[in-house]
Amino acid sequence: MNRWEQLTGGGSGEQYAARFAELAGQGQDVHGEARLCATLVPPGARVLDAGCGTGRVLIQLARLGRDGVGVDQDASMLAVARRNAPGLTWVQADLADFDPATAGITPGFDLVVAAGNVFPLLAPGTEAAVAATLARVLRPGGLLVAGFGLDRDHLPVPPGLTLAEYDACCTAAGLTLTDRFATWDADPYDGGGYAVSVHRR
Ligand SMILES: C[S@@+](CC[C@H](N)C(=O)[O-])C[C@H]1O[C@@H](n2cnc3c(N)ncnc32)[C@H](O)[C@@H]1O
Repeated sequence: MNRWEQLTGGGSGEQYAARFAELAGQGQDVHGEARLCATLVPPGARVLDAGCGTGRVLIQLARLGRDGVGVDQDASMLAVARRNAPGLTWVQADLADFDPATAGITPGFDLVVAAGNVFPLLAPGTEAAVAATLARVLRPGGLLVAGFGLDRDHLPVPPGLTLAEYDACCTAAGLTLTDRFATWDADPYDGGGYAVSVHRR
């Protein structure tokens, strides 16, 4: 069982969507992830939203002219994504063993985004397998962009995965670190409790 399912019981899709709708209604910026990704790949690029949840990031990227597929394990989260964007492709799968061919998806994505603490919320011990899956679905030169918390202030679960461990998983998967930011607004990483990492295949 992944840590997200442990935390939520696997039925929190509507609640998660409502929380973001409320933040957006209060005028808060809820589209930093999509905005940063859109600076990294041009319109028409193919994006895989890994751990897409309710589709928050991919739906905004589609509005910005990128094409994409969302993959998540949680049926309640995917139900919201499918209702809000029936025209996009949503796949229920475990990223640790996701095979695009089985799902009828052509690999060779220009960018994979894992936003919203996906890596720290994986099942313990599966981080390397997930990094390998995400590297495999990228085209050569494609980018993996992952943002996650590193301390108690930035995580809904006890801190586990360190940046050094994440980088080691990416290196083992054949990826090279190209950028690291402190926020989705691309502020320089300062050693703080949240990092957005960009690796290239
Ligand atoms: C906090 S939510 C983030 C959702 C979305 N990326 C966002 O930013 O709004 C974390 C998501 O990771 C997904 N997840 C965790 N482990 C997974 C796995 N092994 N395979 C697929 N999805 C997974 C959960 O189901 C959950 O939807």
